[in-house]
Amino acid sequence: MSIQRIQKKLQKLYRNLRPMRQPYRRRFRMRLGKWLLRHQSDIVFEKCYWMGYRALKNPLDAWIYQEIIHEVQTDIIIEIGSAEGGGTLYLANLLDLVGKGKVISIDIDRSKYHVKHDRIVTITGDSASPEVVEKAAGLCKDKTVLVLHDGEHSKEQVTKDLHAYSGFVSINSYLIVEDGIIDLFKPKDCLGGRKDGPLIAVEQFLKDNTNFIVDDERERYIMTYNPKGYLKRIK
Ligand SMILES: C[S@@+](CC[C@H](N)C(=O)[O-])C[C@H]1O[C@@H](n2cnc3c(N)ncnc32)[C@H](O)[C@@H]1O
Repeated sequence: MSIQRIQKKLQKLYRNLRPMRQPYRRRFRMRLGKWLLRHQSDIVFEKCYWMGYRALKNPLDAWIYQEIIHEVQTDIIIEIGSAEGGGTLYLANLLDLVGKGKVISIDIDRSKYHVKHDRIVTITGDSASPEVVEKAAGLCKDKTVLVLHDGEHSKEQVTKDLHAYSGFVSINSYLIVEDGIIDLFKPKDCLGGRKDGPLIAVEQFLKDNTNFIVDDERERYIMTYNPKGYLKRIK
């Protein structure tokens, strides 16, 4: 065998043996669950912003939202729970790109919310109260509506909200229920809830409601905060 051929073979062998560099080695050996816990404890509340406003979102879920909004061509997004408004502004900016629509931002507490955008309409109050539901209903008439629940995460409140708002969702559009992940982890894991939360509420809701199916294709990035949380209205 010629020297050149031996050199080529050795090069190929070295490429196949190429060791993973530190610190990437540790990074890529991390289990998915650990990534989620790290995201929750170190990133989501401290270092997650949309255009300078804090957004309590998993970016992989946010990517799925743009996909759904583009597909559904929503006129109205009802966002239940806006906090500081980064997520609300994100939704409004997506509608800017689509070229139509409004975000109805519902929150009981506006003390930290400072976002302003022509596409955002705010309603302040308890999401499940008849006055708030009625105001939202008035803005949804004959519109293509998507509902995104990120309000209070107890099973009881989510259940009330699902019953109050699911009827607004248009056929082929979505009822997105955030943060069911808290029902999958233990409370000591910093991501787990102490009481039943959104995932349990969704599972019960689906038992009596055949208008919605879980679209698990929207969970394809695996790292979702919304297990069984992408509910597509089919009838
Ligand atoms: C998880 S934060 C929302 C985060 C926000 N969607 C984002 O992406 O940054 C939950 C919000 O729900 C609001 N909330 C809690 N209980 C509520 C209720 N009964 N009605 C309306 N909003 C409520 C809280 O004030 C808080 O701002």
